[in-house]
Amino acid sequence: MELIILPTADDVARVAADRIAGALRKKPHGVLGLATGSSPLAIYRELARQVESDLLDLSGVSGFALDEYVGIPETNEQSYAAVIAREVTGPLRMDPELVHVPNGRADDLSAACDDYEKEMAACGGVDVQILGIGGNGHIGFNEPGSSFASRTRHKVLAPQTRADNARFFDSPADVPTQCLTQGIGTILEAAELVLVAQGEAKASAVAAAVEGPLTSMCPASALQLHRRATVIVDEAAAALLKLSDYYSLAFEVSQS
Ligand code: F6R
Repeated sequence: MELIILPTADDVARVAADRIAGALRKKPHGVLGLATGSSPLAIYRELARQVESDLLDLSGVSGFALDEYVGIPETNEQSYAAVIAREVTGPLRMDPELVHVPNGRADDLSAACDDYEKEMAACGGVDVQILGIGGNGHIGFNEPGSSFASRTRHKVLAPQTRADNARFFDSPADVPTQCLTQGIGTILEAAELVLVAQGEAKASAVAAAVEGPLTSMCPASALQLHRRATVIVDEAAAALLKLSDYYSLAFEVSQS
């Protein structure tokens, strides 16, 4: 795992966006794995800036969202289908036909999850997956206790996740209780993972993911099993890392 510690959240977005743009420039018909939540928003803004400046063309790139709520309509502006359309597909000038979100409104949720896996496989799998991390160490909506072998499936959100995401809704009671999420096994199949975290509220989850044991109690610790996982954090999110001097040295050497 490569760990990059940068002074500010803006630096995190810029460096992450450059990695992602670099991977997709080499593969104009590649597949981008999309996270929602606040962590990747500045990455999307930076990618949109590159697209507007004609430095990047994502019109042939497919997108697959990590997860979706169950129990709210697509017209709810907090559904991830709506968030992805607003924050990603439009600003990044991606082809809406190529951008996929799990169908949390399907009558048969289990079949919707299986179909999602098939669609990802038909596109050749994800080339670069953007990830945030929950305060409880989740990736996607794989809450603590999720199997590292899990696939896209119907899950119940942890109370902490509902509390953390209440800021996006009018009232905490409006936060859905269930979701569809790519599994940890699904996420680990992406060719490259880029996880970003900003702010002190993420510091203990980042330390557990990067330096803690491999454990389903911290789903993000599964990144330790991946050959090409990069974790890009600001100083506040890096505050509890024991080896931060070493990571900074390694990053400096890689840049020289
Ligand atoms: C959302 C997702 C989640 C978030 C995580 C952090 O698609 O996959 O794992 O990345 O809950 O959320 P924020 O970025 O809002 O702190």
